[in-house]
Amino acid sequence: MNLSISSKPEHDVHIRRDGRWAGAITSRPLPDDATLDDLSPTQRLVLADVWRGRAASERRVSESFTVVRDALVSLDAPRDLVDLATRAIDDEMRHAELSRMVASRCALQEIDHPPRLVLELPLHAGASERLRHILHVVGQCAFNETIASAFLEAAIAEATAPLARAALRELLSDEIDHARIGWALLASLDATTRAEVERWLPPMAIANLRMWRDAHRTYADDASLAAHGAPSVASVERALLLAFRDLILPGFAHLGMGTAKIAAWLEAGAPT
Ligand SMILES: [Fe+2]
Ligand SMILES: [Fe+2]
Repeated sequence: MNLSISSKPEHDVHIRRDGRWAGAITSRPLPDDATLDDLSPTQRLVLADVWRGRAASERRVSESFTVVRDALVSLDAPRDLVDLATRAIDDEMRHAELSRMVASRCALQEIDHPPRLVLELPLHAGASERLRHILHVVGQCAFNETIASAFLEAAIAEATAPLARAALRELLSDEIDHARIGWALLASLDATTRAEVERWLPPMAIANLRMWRDAHRTYADDASLAAHGAPSVASVERALLLAFRDLILPGFAHLGMGTAKIAAWLEAGAPT
């Protein structure tokens, strides 16, 4: 049975009409999914909870991109990066609404917007104001969005259900652009500034991995859940470590930034 769930952005979830899909939540309508009927009521509730949790995180990431956009303006960053960050504020609002819509389909009823999560910015104590701006962009984009891309790729690999596959692909199509903001900003900096950034990277790596690990320990592994977009803990862990080894470390190394400390931490099993 498929429930007709339309987009109903509420009070604090505003989708821009001049956004990426001209006010639509997705590039194409989400498909019906008869495979949801094969799930037990308990599985459906767990999935609704997972997707509702995603809606809350995406909403908070939108807020984080407001900080990224303002940081880029303060840094006098290239205009195309400011534009991309401005678009990302709206992209993440769409992600929040998309995730809420999937949660509603799983629950067979309209799910409310989840309560707002508090955005807590890292202090980066001792860093200059300029460096703090840079570190926020690096943390949100080069780390978090790169990890998000690897996570979504892994989730898509396990997802066989049409609705989950379509939703995860829509999310992935934006996260790659969002990650690029961080890498492009780093590439635009001089070598001295990149060296300053370098010493902050190990604690940022640990904090990001801890956050992603914790976010996926809220449900028990179940192949049926993975088919609908809730991958197993083991596959999430593989994706997270792959993001560091194959994307993040080579990215920093390509920019001439030292990665030995993070490499040693990964070698030691990446304790958080
Ligand atoms: Fe997102
Ligand atoms: Fe994103």
